[in-house]
Amino acid sequence: MANALGRHVALIGFMGAGKSALGAAAAERLRRAFVDTDRAIEESHGPIPELFEVGEDRFRAVELEVARAALESSEPAVIALGGGAVTTPALRALLREHAVTVLVDVDVDTSWARAQGPGRPLAQDEARFRQLYEERRPLYEGSADARAEDVEDVVLAAGGVHVEVGALERLGDLLPERTVALVADAHVAGIYGPAVQVALGHRLVSTHELPQGEEAKALGPVGRLWSELRLGRDGLLAALGGGATTDAAGFAAATYLRGIDWAALPTTLVGQVDAAIGGKTALDLPEGKNLVGAFHWPVRTVIDPGALETLPERERRAGLSEVVKTGLLAGERLWELPVPELVRRCAAFKTGVCLRDPRELGERAILNLGHTFAHALEAGSGHAVAHGDAVALGLLAALRLSGLDEEVRTVEEILRPSPVPADRDRAWAALGRDKKQRRGKTRLVLLDAPGRPRPGVELPDDDVRRELDRLIAG
Ligand SMILES: NC(=O)c1ccc[n+]([C@@H]2O[C@H](COP(=O)([O-])OP(=O)(O)OC[C@H]3O[C@@H](n4cnc5c(N)ncnc54)[C@H](O)[C@@H]3O)[C@@H](O)[C@H]2O)c1
Repeated sequence: MANALGRHVALIGFMGAGKSALGAAAAERLRRAFVDTDRAIEESHGPIPELFEVGEDRFRAVELEVARAALESSEPAVIALGGGAVTTPALRALLREHAVTVLVDVDVDTSWARAQGPGRPLAQDEARFRQLYEERRPLYEGSADARAEDVEDVVLAAGGVHVEVGALERLGDLLPERTVALVADAHVAGIYGPAVQVALGHRLVSTHELPQGEEAKALGPVGRLWSELRLGRDGLLAALGGGATTDAAGFAAATYLRGIDWAALPTTLVGQVDAAIGGKTALDLPEGKNLVGAFHWPVRTVIDPGALETLPERERRAGLSEVVKTGLLAGERLWELPVPELVRRCAAFKTGVCLRDPRELGERAILNLGHTFAHALEAGSGHAVAHGDAVALGLLAALRLSGLDEEVRTVEEILRPSPVPADRDRAWAALGRDKKQRRGKTRLVLLDAPGRPRPGVELPDDDVRRELDRLIAG
């Protein structure tokens, strides 16, 4: 199953893979309850070695009962299963029905070094242990929706997000076995279209182009796309391009036949760390950006950081502003990481926030850090300023108001923002309209410290206007 919105996340894997530690960390990250079935068994039925003394069948029956209770519970949790749980066919069926199943992989030597000892009845004899490892491998592979080595991988798997250099060429393996219509940005289609078409093979039934960039997010192009599509309700729309393409094609998927599944294949840094994650889709109206849209989480988001190699510098800068924003929110210097890891970590951060608040009713507002000022600058400049530059300036203002001098210097160093020409009164009026205002005071996302965002901060207008004015040249 593709994502864990409203479903459990179940961790499977051999003894000593680290499922319990990883499960506890993932549960904390997703703010869900954590169930460790081995521990639950010991609490309800006594020590596992004693159950094994009665017979492995007895243990497996108890394990199924405990796992069933956890998997059938309606409150989505993170569940770590014992190493042999997947040998029980009924338990595998429960996993398919109720969970995103994540394989925590471990090599056999590490596993043996960690697992041997009196508490694990099946880790007493090394030859038997190695044999079991080989026997169970195909069961793990067959049951897993994704693999994980760390907590970021688990969160990504929970969101149906896969990050891998070269992933576009492996789409055949990474997308569900469905009939696919490929919708691509006209420019990106020329670069990555052929490889994606080859990877999808016979599943691809049609290809469609949207205008390059923001022009795609309008009723005209999306209307044409609706008319061209020939997918049934069981089809899959795959959107290849930047945030504009995934916003527009995602919206087409949300509305075509009252909603079909879609996959996001983001090719810009903005798309890979932000726009393609979390299920917000939108079109622009003449009255403003993103005024029509839907929450429609993609069944898969396949991120290939290799696609960033052809990205123009201006677009890379736009993405870097979002990366710095994410690092500040996470409290980690993510912008210093090599690109594929930076993308993976930023994507995991956004996936975590959006899984905790899929409908943007609360915490998800933190992702607006710096954006209230950015939108004001864009409006005040008649949209002459690039979004990435506006976000860089917006971060500066938010950090100054947060009193975080060191982080102000970081933003200056990494993003090198410089004040932009804009109409001060129009920018101020736009900031007031930016839906975050209440009782005459402007509500902003600030940081108490890196990693500790505070949404909904109310500040006197004079302070906010002073910081906005500092971002405007002349
Ligand atoms: N839904 C969300 O949660 C969300 C979040 C952030 C931004 N957005 C939206 O995303 C849009 C901006 O997205 P964007 O910054 O990705 O820009 P974009 O989609 O407009 O693409 C920018 C340009 O890069 C080109 N391009 C894309 N990938 C390329 C590649 N690999 N190599 C060469 N060229 C490539 C495109 O042809 C286009 O000209 C905005 O409309 C914004 O509203 C949505």
